[in-house]
Amino acid sequence: MKKKLIIAIDGYSSCGKSTFARAIARELGYIYIDSGAMYRAVTLYAMRRGFISGEKLNPEGIINELNEIHIEFIYNPDLDEYETYLNSGNVESEIRGIEVSGYVSAISKIPEVRTRMVELQRQIGVYKGIVMDGRDIGTVVFPDAELKIFMTASVDVRAKRRYDELMGKGVVVDFAEIRRNIITRDITDENRDISPLRRADDAIVLDNTRMTVKEQMDWILRIIETKLNGS
Ligand code: DC
Repeated sequence: MKKKLIIAIDGYSSCGKSTFARAIARELGYIYIDSGAMYRAVTLYAMRRGFISGEKLNPEGIINELNEIHIEFIYNPDLDEYETYLNSGNVESEIRGIEVSGYVSAISKIPEVRTRMVELQRQIGVYKGIVMDGRDIGTVVFPDAELKIFMTASVDVRAKRRYDELMGKGVVVDFAEIRRNIITRDITDENRDISPLRRADDAIVLDNTRMTVKEQMDWILRIIETKLNGS
């Protein structure tokens, strides 16, 4: 049987991690897991339950209900994509909105939330053959992953990509606000106490500021080929 890998893709927000991870999974017939969607789903849950309002956050409320938050990725054949479900409801577009984006860093700083998400992510990874993207996949979730990529790109390119993505989905947004949101999230992600965003020592850096998706794919598939046929 062909060897199966765990591929960990970490990096800054809006670097195209999910597009890249999804394309790799499709190419290899692997499962793709968007770990950021899990933190986003918890954030939406907290908003709906009133655990976040304005600047106020009630972490205890969220922690007490962690076992009631059920997150699934269900295949949508019309889109040929997996969509995020929260307690049986499709929340795929809601979790991408600016409101969830504004609060998600604060939620992902809560240690109990991280512990629970990491546990779920490891359960999904048990059979290998997965590509998972996030911030701490190569450092915390799967420190033994066979392949780790750390993605980065300039702030302007990332803001433009997120802007195009949201506008393309019919969500009207302000470019300057998107750009500010990205910068703020970088700072929070890199400076939080638990599992801050950082490159694993054995991760390969991919700066895709000036690369097309095709160029990135050609690059990674050569590396994967070596991993699969090598040691
Ligand atoms: O990848 P994304 O932008 O959808 O992630 C949303 C937020 O979740 C981001 O601010 C950081 C957080 N996150 C995290 O802390 N750990 C992960 N493994 C994935 C995302």
